[in-house]
Amino acid sequence: MLGAESDGMAHSAVSDAKRRTEPRWWYEPVFTVISFTAFVLYSLWEVFTHNRGRYANYVSPYFSPDVAAWLHIHWLPALWVACAPLLFRATCYYYRREYYRAFFHDPPACSIAERPRRYAGETRPPLAWNYLHRFFLYPSLVVVAFLWADAVSAFDFGGHFGIGLGSVVLLLNAVLLSLYTFSCHAFRHWVGGSLDCFSCAGRPRLRYTLWRRVSDLNRRHGLFAWISMFWVWGADLYVRLLITGALRDPRWLS
Ligand code: FES
Repeated sequence: MLGAESDGMAHSAVSDAKRRTEPRWWYEPVFTVISFTAFVLYSLWEVFTHNRGRYANYVSPYFSPDVAAWLHIHWLPALWVACAPLLFRATCYYYRREYYRAFFHDPPACSIAERPRRYAGETRPPLAWNYLHRFFLYPSLVVVAFLWADAVSAFDFGGHFGIGLGSVVLLLNAVLLSLYTFSCHAFRHWVGGSLDCFSCAGRPRLRYTLWRRVSDLNRRHGLFAWISMFWVWGADLYVRLLITGALRDPRWLS
C-alpha cells in the first residue's frame, strides 16, 4: 500500500516536472499569428505605398527585379514583383500547416482536439487553390536569380569593390531565400521525388545526388521559412530606412 502510494507520488512528480519543461502547445500558433499578421501588414504597406525601393547600389528584395526602371512600370512596381514570392510563400506546404493551425485551429496542434465541425480541408476553393504552389515555384526561381544579381551589385560601389552593411544584408538575403526555395517540397519532387526508379531515369546518378541534397535541405525547410521571412522583411526595412535618411550605411571598404 505504502509502495503504491510512493509510486503514485513519484509519478505525479515526474509528470509535474515534464509539464514544466515541455513547451506549451499554444506557443507556436500564437507566435505564428503575431508574426504572420505583422509581416502581411508590413508587406501591404510597402507594396501599396511606395514606388521606389533602391538606395544607390542596394535594391530592396520587394522591388527586385527593378521592373520600374526596365519596363517603365511605375504603378505600384513592388506589387508586380512581390506577388510571385508572396503567393509562393502563402501556398507553401510548411506555412499551410502553420496557418491552418494558428488561424483555423484545424487542428490547433498535434494531439489537441479540433473544434467540432465539418472539416473540408483543401477539397474546395479557396484552400484548394493551394495546389498551385508548384507553379509559383518557377517564377520564384527567377526571382532568386535576380536577388543574387542584386547581392553581387551591392558590393559594386561605382565600379570598384566595397563592403557596406547593406552588402552583407543583401548577400545573406539571397543565401537565405535560396535555402528556402531549394528546400521546397515541390522543388524536391521536381528534381527526383517524382521518380519510382532512379536507375530507370536519364542521368540516374545526377538525379539521385540532387534528390539527396535537396532532401537534406528539405528537412530544415520550416527553419529556412521563418529565418528567410524575417530576413527579407529586415532587408527591405533597412533599404527603406536608408532611402528616408533615417539610417546611414556603415562602410568597411568602398
Ligand atoms: S513547400 Fe514551402 S516553399 Fe514549397
